[in-house]
Amino acid sequence: EKDILILGIESSCDETAASVVKNGRTVMSNVISSQIDIHTLYGGVVPEIASRKHVERINQVIGQALKDAGVTLSEIDAVSVTYGPGLVGALLVGVGAAKAIAYAAGKPLVGVHHIEGHIAANYLEHPDLEPPFLCLVVSGGHTHLVRVLEYGKFEIIGYTHDDAAGEAFDKVARAIGLGYPGGPKIDKLAAKEGNPYAIEFPRAKIDGCEFDFSFSGVKSAVLNYLNGCEMKGIEVNRADVAASFQQAVVDVLVGRAVGAAKKLGEKRIAVAGGVASNSALRAAMKQACDEAGLGLCYPSPIYCTDNAAMIASQGYYEYMAGTRHGLDLNAVPNLKI
Ligand code: KG4
Ligand code: ZN
Repeated sequence: EKDILILGIESSCDETAASVVKNGRTVMSNVISSQIDIHTLYGGVVPEIASRKHVERINQVIGQALKDAGVTLSEIDAVSVTYGPGLVGALLVGVGAAKAIAYAAGKPLVGVHHIEGHIAANYLEHPDLEPPFLCLVVSGGHTHLVRVLEYGKFEIIGYTHDDAAGEAFDKVARAIGLGYPGGPKIDKLAAKEGNPYAIEFPRAKIDGCEFDFSFSGVKSAVLNYLNGCEMKGIEVNRADVAASFQQAVVDVLVGRAVGAAKKLGEKRIAVAGGVASNSALRAAMKQACDEAGLGLCYPSPIYCTDNAAMIASQGYYEYMAGTRHGLDLNAVPNLKI
């Protein structure tokens, strides 16, 4: 059978990315142009700057992805692009580029949901992973427990009522002076010299919503703790704060995910999104899944954070299922799964 090549394009936040993936599983190229250096100056992503940088870089990034894969546009079977959720101005750049290419080269256009893309990142390195499975999606903008019923069929069984997990990491990191993006920095500092049990931060439960999350409480508890230390003139051990905060978040994520898998009879948990590269989360998930007899997988760090290979992978399964979008495809900043 003929190989299917999908060109994926991603621009929903601060990464301009393009990739070519074969048969939904084999990465032929993966080009990511990060804007982190610029946004770091402002302590977070500035939407208008993100859009402008995407415009400056997208054509070159797409060209490089085709070149690295050793293919021309005419050899591509379809163009897949993230059309939501995300920053509207940022999304529009990728969607516009994808539509132009699809039109000019006469290729089918397939819009992809960003979170479904994060989930699909797991297919890139785990050839045996197939639905059904349970996915814990933890990124800067999202915290969801999703049942992946089929490649294109999802059921959300838990979500955050306030901050996303990555957002909490970023805010706490800023409060202890680590800078943006905070997740990797907290991870590193905690691993190097933090005691995860030095400070007791809350593990929030939500009444009647067994699998939902809330991270604003733990974030506030950290801020209160820091204020308290300042008022009392106590020197803060930043590594202990980082490790104790991280442990509180990890306990909740692991508890909910493994609890849900047991209750629903799922055999395997996949983790996805930027926070899936957190070392403490990986270690705790492994231990809990081993104990519960559950399979566990997560992508390499490069496929955890935003990339276009994951969009091409999900795009492949949508394409095979017959999904086609018209040239009227629009960016949908609050797109639902
Ligand atoms: O998936 P992603 O690139 O973007 C969104 O779709 O949101 O995730 C970025 C988020 C940021 O909040 C970042 O701080 C967090 O993932 N992150 C981490 C780690 N690496 C990235 N959080 C905790 N530990 C890490 N090692
Ligand atoms: Zn993302």
